[in-house]
Amino acid sequence: MPVPADEAGALARTADARGAMGHRVVWYATTSSTNDRALDAAHAGAAPGTVFVADTQTGGRGRRGRTWQSPPGAGLYVSVIVAVPREVVTLLTLAAGVAMAEGIQASTGLAVQLKWPNDLWMDGRKVGGILAESVQVGVEPAIVVLGVGVNLAHGAWPPEVAALATSLQHEAGRAVDRGLVLAECLVALRRCVDVLSAGDVSTVLDRWRTLAATLLRRAVEWDEGAAVRTGTAVDVDDTGALLVETPEGRLCLNAGEVRWR
Ligand code: BTN
Repeated sequence: MPVPADEAGALARTADARGAMGHRVVWYATTSSTNDRALDAAHAGAAPGTVFVADTQTGGRGRRGRTWQSPPGAGLYVSVIVAVPREVVTLLTLAAGVAMAEGIQASTGLAVQLKWPNDLWMDGRKVGGILAESVQVGVEPAIVVLGVGVNLAHGAWPPEVAALATSLQHEAGRAVDRGLVLAECLVALRRCVDVLSAGDVSTVLDRWRTLAATLLRRAVEWDEGAAVRTGTAVDVDDTGALLVETPEGRLCLNAGEVRWR
């Protein structure tokens, strides 16, 4: 379907600032998952910067095989094909988090906190998340699909989600403009991907640390064989891995293995 008029207006106003990010926007009234559409398109040769958005998803997914609730009209469900140098690909999720926080701030005035590796938080609750899925990471440049879900309004969430989630509309106390949020998030994503691609890892990581400061220094756990180990998350390293303090010393853990307690 065509891009809705409000969103098309916001995208047109930000065309220069977005550059190739969103040079083509494919819009669905409903689809299984915008990540699936983006992965299919990327494998078929679609250019980096192509964006896929849906009003609702029937099979929205998050990390660890979780379902991403995608009720119509209540969220931003967007996936972007991104190309970056291989050496920085492990930092893409953190860079995308920075971009989403900056895009949300620019479009709504709301301050979002980041929780490693891929959560957007406000007021102690989750307001969005990022699911990065590889298309090709063994060649230059690496191609990745970045899927972003942001709760714009409270939806008909199941109780276990409602207990932990919030929405931009709830936090702002007024309606938010989906087109503006989308457009400003793409502007910020272009900026962060450009910075990362230029090899300026420290700018991205410093910004991430600032936005994540209130949600670091907390207890985490992970499995080691049959045992569950615990430690305190203290920082990230230059690859984006979590640095965890334990009685035996400092460990580097990746996103697949860590759970927040
Ligand atoms: C998470 O927090 O676990 C990540 C959630 C990512 C959800 C988005 S919504 C758009 C895109 N399509 C999907 O199926 N997932 C991502």
